[in-house]
This record gives sequence, C-alpha cells and structure tokens, in this order.
Amino acid sequence: MDTNRLSKKMAAALNDQITEEANAAQIYLSYGAWAAGEGYNGIARFLFRHAEEERNHMMKVLEYIIKRGGAVKLAAIAAPPDNPNNIGSCFGKIYEHEVSNTKMIYVLVKKCMEEEDWATWNFLQWFVKEQTEEETFAMNLVDKVKLAGNEKSGNNAMYILDRDMDSATGEVASATDVTAVNP
Ligand SMILES: [Fe+2]
Ligand SMILES: [Fe+2]
Repeated sequence: MDTNRLSKKMAAALNDQITEEANAAQIYLSYGAWAAGEGYNGIARFLFRHAEEERNHMMKVLEYIIKRGGAVKLAAIAAPPDNPNNIGSCFGKIYEHEVSNTKMIYVLVKKCMEEEDWATWNFLQWFVKEQTEEETFAMNLVDKVKLAGNEKSGNNAMYILDRDMDSATGEVASATDVTAVNP
C-alpha cells in the first residue's frame, strides 16, 4: 500500500529546501568564523546562534517529508561564498540571502497551489511568516551598521555594536502582534 502523500515533484522541491536551509546555516557559520577572525566575537556568536536557527528550519522540512510518507534525500551543501570585506557587506549579503530564500519559499507555495496540495501549503505558511521575520531581522542588521558608521578608524560605535550583539537574540516580533499600546 502506498502511503506517500507527496507528489514526486513536491518531494523533490521540499528536499531542495532542506539543502537551502543547510546552505543558509553554512553561510552564517562561515561569516561567523570570519567575524571572529576579525575580532568581532560578539557578532560571531550572534551569527553562530543564527546558523542553528537555519538548521532548525532544515529539520522542520525534513520532519514534514517523513510525516507525509515521502523520502528524504540529502544533497551536498555548496561551499559558502567568499568572506565579506567588512561588517557592512557581511550584513548586506545576509539580507540578500534571506530575500533569495523567501523567493524559494514562494515558488514552493505556488507549486502547492498548482498541485492543490493544501497540507503542504498549510505547512509552508509557517515559513512564509518566518521569512518575513528573517527579512526584518536582516534589515535591522543593515540599519545597525549604518548607525554605527561601519569600520571608520577610531569609531567606538563598532565596539559597542559588537558588544551588544553578543547577547542579541535576533528575535523579531511579527507585525501582526503589534498593538497601539505596544508598538
Ligand atoms: Fe531559514
Ligand atoms: Fe534565514
């Protein structure tokens, strides 16, 4: 008896998403290691923590494929991109990567509509919301460096940024949770 509830195409696309999330984790890990090498240990730890978030995303997709009776097929993870030149470009590249991941999720959602696979559509809504938050999270990083003024010599702001990010969670409140009293 066939208990697989995922189409071949859908299972392949979800398996690709596993690779994408693992790939994202790899990028955060690599940028974190670079930041540590540059002396930004607070930012490094922040990026390492976020690498784990991406691995959690990967696990969610993997679990979902299993729960739907599909086959998980892991693929090779690409080498991370070259090291960034500075913290500003590091955060800029993170933002760009989050946007490209969002686009992948949107393609998946579209596939669900075409196949009328409403279970997977419903599962992916968590990722749609999560990516909205991840994009805001990355936008905030870009803003923080703008405020700190990047690596101008004698700039104490980068020191403070690094120190603050050591304990930053990266959690972003969803816009739908905001109220007039609690903006
Ligand atoms: Fe992710
Ligand atoms: Fe992400």
